[in-house]
Amino acid sequence: MWIGAIPRVRLAHLPTPVEELTRLRQEIGGGPRLFIKRDDATGLAVGGNKVRKLEFLVADALHCGADTLITAGGVQSNHARMTAAAANRFGLDAVLVFDGDEGAPLQGNQLLDRVLGAQTRFLSLPAPEALEITREELREQGKRPYVIPVGGSTGLGSMGYVLAMQELAEWGRDHETSIDHVVVASGSGGTQAGLQAVVWSQNLPVQVIGMSVSRDERVLAELVATIATEAVQHVGLTKVFSSEEITVRDEYVGPGYAQVTPECLRAIELAARTEGIILDPVYTGKAMAGLLDLIKQGYFAEDENVVFIHTGGIPGLFAYAEHFAL
Ligand SMILES: Cc1ncc(COP(=O)(O)O)c(C=O)c1O
Repeated sequence: MWIGAIPRVRLAHLPTPVEELTRLRQEIGGGPRLFIKRDDATGLAVGGNKVRKLEFLVADALHCGADTLITAGGVQSNHARMTAAAANRFGLDAVLVFDGDEGAPLQGNQLLDRVLGAQTRFLSLPAPEALEITREELREQGKRPYVIPVGGSTGLGSMGYVLAMQELAEWGRDHETSIDHVVVASGSGGTQAGLQAVVWSQNLPVQVIGMSVSRDERVLAELVATIATEAVQHVGLTKVFSSEEITVRDEYVGPGYAQVTPECLRAIELAARTEGIILDPVYTGKAMAGLLDLIKQGYFAEDENVVFIHTGGIPGLFAYAEHFAL
């Protein structure tokens, strides 16, 4: 089956631009040519990678006759914020289940969730359980809920990044630029899985490097392989991905998910001060810190081209103001 035959709603501004990071490259003293794919500019409620996944997930929810989208995440979940925005675009309700204290400051994504009018709940339970409880409650109230797992990272959700990789490969062809490596922040794995699915199915000579923001690299590589296996099934292909085929680096996570590292803060400042590009401390800042470190180690050849995918997350920065105080 062709991806164009899979039901999809339109939410994102596509194709997202690709820009060359010449000043950043100069500042770090050379290395491979660096490009950035601006998926922070996907457009829905401050943008980010989840919009692409939601185009497929919301289409499925509508197909199932849902009236409410439920999803879960950390208190500063970008995915939850964009799910609320996508629900609004289709006249659906959104219930966001957060893992944390009710007292989360009304800042960053939490503030946007409030502005978007989403219902929020705080449950100190593993996400699958919290989602199930919420689904049952809503059903008892006569609602028709559709559950989107954390990060929208299902085979169907990752179709958004199948399209993104196709878009990027087309950009490479149009600009006669070979893409040797793609670097992306990887959390629940669906973004990396979609990219990897295309690299395999189109036999592209591209290495996708997922910079883990939380998980151990072996665990995340397994997860990405599982989602990529599901992803190709959606387009009628059969391939069982093995974790050996997936490149994940976990040495830039630092103390844990959503906990800043000095390298991440420096990467955020560097991108902002050389290119005017805003990264976030939870995802893209850590991924950029990883990319800069690999460049420093000489991991890439000087004549290679590296594309960093800016997956968004900008609202999260506002919840970390104290780390940037002088
Ligand atoms: C800004 C940002 N970048 C990257 C990711 C990671 O994407 P995935 O969960 O598909 O691995 C997320 C996920 O929440 C995100 O919000």
